[in-house]
Amino acid sequence: MTLYDEGYARGAQQADGPLRPVGLDVAPGAATTHAVMSEQDLLTVRHAVRSATVEAGFALVDQTRIVTAASELARNAYVHGGGGSLTIEVLGHGARAGVRLIVRDNGPGIPDLEKALTDGWTTGAGLGHGLGGARRLMHEFDVDTVVGQGTTVTAIRWNNR
Ligand SMILES: Nc1ncnc2c1ncn2[C@@H]1O[C@H](COP(=O)(O)OP(=O)(O)O)[C@@H](O)[C@H]1O
Ligand SMILES: [Mg+2]
Repeated sequence: MTLYDEGYARGAQQADGPLRPVGLDVAPGAATTHAVMSEQDLLTVRHAVRSATVEAGFALVDQTRIVTAASELARNAYVHGGGGSLTIEVLGHGARAGVRLIVRDNGPGIPDLEKALTDGWTTGAGLGHGLGGARRLMHEFDVDTVVGQGTTVTAIRWNNR
């Protein structure tokens, strides 16, 4: 399922085209936003991220790194955040092509981010390796979380780096 987010618009000649971020250096039509509200959505998201990494020219091992990171972040938004969305952007930087993941939820937020990033630390039934693992798999990683409001994780992996 595709959602609409603030900061996104369709191109003038593309009434039905994919949504793309406004003011960011990306190839036209390169951003898609997917709901993360069910186990089925988690599967759909994995396929969509895989496609984006192929489109961006990543080799198989890097494709899998990015899919794994996206999967962990999406699962967190679903399990801990009560559901959310994942935006996938193929960044248009030529030789420095990359993929940016933005995972949002309006859940409880993360009171102690340092602890949450620590391997083995969990408040749930998981293994506690998701958030820290995702950070290690990506080149840029930012968590914006507000208790009582929600969490947004933005992560980029660049190609040829
Ligand atoms: N989107 C989120 N919203 C609220 N809490 C989160 C979110 N993502 C992670 N957390 C918190 O950080 C902890 C560690 O996350 P993670 O490393 O993925 O381990 P796990 O999901 O196995 O518990 C979680 O147990 C949870 O308390
Ligand atoms: Mg997790």
